[in-house]
Amino acid sequence: MVEDNMPDKKTVLICCGTGCLANNSYEIYRELKKRVEAAGEDISVKPVLKTTGCNGLCEKGPVITILPEDIFYCKVKISDVDEIFEKTLLKGEIIERLLYLDIKTGKKVKSHKESEFFKRQKKIALRNIGQIDPANIEDYIQRGGYRALKKALFEMSPDEIINEVEKSGLRGRGGAGFPTGYKWKQAKKINSFPKYVICNGDEGDPGAFMDRSVMEGDPHSIIEGMIIGAYAVGAQKGFVYIRDEYALAVKNVSRAIKDAYGRGFLGENILGSGFNLDIEIVRGGGAFVCGESTALMASIEGRVGEPRVKYIRSTEKGLWGQPTVLNNVETWANVPVIVDRGAKWFSSIGTEKSKGTKVFSLVGKVNNTGLIEVPMGVTLREIIFDIGGGIPGGKKFKAVQTGGPSGGCIPESLLDLPVDFDSLDKAGSMMGSGGMIVMDESNCMVEVARYYLKFLSEESCGKCTPCREGIRRMLEILEDICAGKGREEDIKLLLELAETVREASLCGLGKTAPNPVLTTIKYFKDEYLAHIKEKRCPAGVCKELTSYRINQELCKRCGVCAKKCPAGAIFSKPKSPYVIDNNKCIVCGACREACRFNAIEVMGRREG
Ligand SMILES: Cc1cc2nc3c(=O)[nH]c(=O)nc-3n(C[C@H](O)[C@H](O)[C@H](O)COP(=O)(O)O)c2cc1C
Ligand code: SF4
Ligand code: SF4
Ligand code: FES
Repeated sequence: MVEDNMPDKKTVLICCGTGCLANNSYEIYRELKKRVEAAGEDISVKPVLKTTGCNGLCEKGPVITILPEDIFYCKVKISDVDEIFEKTLLKGEIIERLLYLDIKTGKKVKSHKESEFFKRQKKIALRNIGQIDPANIEDYIQRGGYRALKKALFEMSPDEIINEVEKSGLRGRGGAGFPTGYKWKQAKKINSFPKYVICNGDEGDPGAFMDRSVMEGDPHSIIEGMIIGAYAVGAQKGFVYIRDEYALAVKNVSRAIKDAYGRGFLGENILGSGFNLDIEIVRGGGAFVCGESTALMASIEGRVGEPRVKYIRSTEKGLWGQPTVLNNVETWANVPVIVDRGAKWFSSIGTEKSKGTKVFSLVGKVNNTGLIEVPMGVTLREIIFDIGGGIPGGKKFKAVQTGGPSGGCIPESLLDLPVDFDSLDKAGSMMGSGGMIVMDESNCMVEVARYYLKFLSEESCGKCTPCREGIRRMLEILEDICAGKGREEDIKLLLELAETVREASLCGLGKTAPNPVLTTIKYFKDEYLAHIKEKRCPAGVCKELTSYRINQELCKRCGVCAKKCPAGAIFSKPKSPYVIDNNKCIVCGACREACRFNAIEVMGRREG
């Protein structure tokens, strides 16, 4: 497995992940197909056309890969189809315009694998995505899929499988990094049936799309992992919990389950082994807290999705009070590779306590946004500046937020931190499920903390008072600070509240909710002080503390700012630089974003 076998036959892989679909990639597929079919005898070797899951570079989409030459085209339009057919498919010529520009080297590359974005990645969980048609089980099998299942069922005992997973060092990819093999061992040793396995595909973090991409692009890898896990712990029923908004994930996982039944990988007497397993999909309603293990189980049971106290572990009494193994999408997708290639191989990748790779959705103020998979232990600097290609527009890096809404903001001084479960924890953040949001000098860190606390206060289920009331109280203080009404004692009060919320909340939501506040106070206290003492927002974000002015010397009179202004607040007299009417300005920042000459200056708040 983790095979990279390129077909000898000409194959065109057209990305039809959610990002590319939104930019008409399916129409491109249809047009190209029509063109190939209409060519008849004109074309000696007809290419095979396949739709695939997300290649990770959605921002450059729609993307197309042509094999075996491995030509990678980006931002393809329907109007490019004829040229791709005539030049590349018929004559083997490369269309320079459509090649990927590697920001790091400034050069166009023929194959995306030559770019810094891809070269530094290692794909295990994402091994097949972008290479196979997720709706075609044969594609998965051709790349080694279901080989691990056969090995598990016919060459290994359940205990041997659990030992292998334990030895591999695999830790759960859904947030807490709990050792997967140990969790399975606990569920296996309870002699109470039925037992259940669950795949957590809730993925409620704003900006995250790792699990969605795996469910959409390689659903069989999850199903194969779940069958192996179920066999190991003695479960005969599995659920894939997918958030309702993920329509394509639901469609592709449903299709994969149906095809797996059709090939005898699911159902009764799997492949003649005597082992039975049924898997079904449950659609989650979209509440962030339903990603928490016990809330998720309550939701599957048809109860309100509220967490419970975990003095009894779910491996002992989980779904309907029975032993249950719940793992994240990415965790399950790693399992077949571990069984196939062995624990020794897997544990040779990563750091001492964090083995293997981790998938991240790299977003925010970074040149190459997208889905990446890196060996544990690479530094934040490598991810942001080598893979991500640095910060756009020549701006300065300020912070990176890892771990989803209740993760923390890590400053520039810690950019050489290795990315693993323990180092991120130590820095006051966490791995979480893999959201990574890059921020530059134009982000206000007080406002960032306020944004996450607002999200968490709305998503708290309200069951316990410290979380329900504590987060709301912290949010009110942050809103005051952002509005210029902060008091000097507010920082101390925030720290005290954070401590109480962390200590006294029932589930992980409340326990980790203070992280954005604590890390921004720890690493960006000067920004809090500027808001509180000087009534100034240094980043020029908080509306009540900010006004803008156009620097008359830097303004080149291009008029771009005036075109972008939604309030009609920018005007100019003939042959003069542009000016902002502060009575009309709503401080949206659109002009500042748009100006290529950095002529929009941030000023303090306007009095009166
Ligand atoms: C508020 C909250 C939301 C969570 N959301 C998710 C989620 O969307 N997906 C996920 O896999 N784990 C989520 N988790 C973590 C799960 O509770 C659980 O630890 C995880 O799914 C276990 O799988 P793993 O061991 O493979 O990581 C969440 C936890 C909390 C506290
Ligand atoms: S900590 Fe918050 S989200 Fe968790 S149970 Fe308590 S109120 Fe609900
Ligand atoms: S900040 Fe927004 S409203 Fe104000 S001048 Fe600029 S674009 Fe117009
Ligand atoms: S959806 Fe096509 S690259 Fe992500």
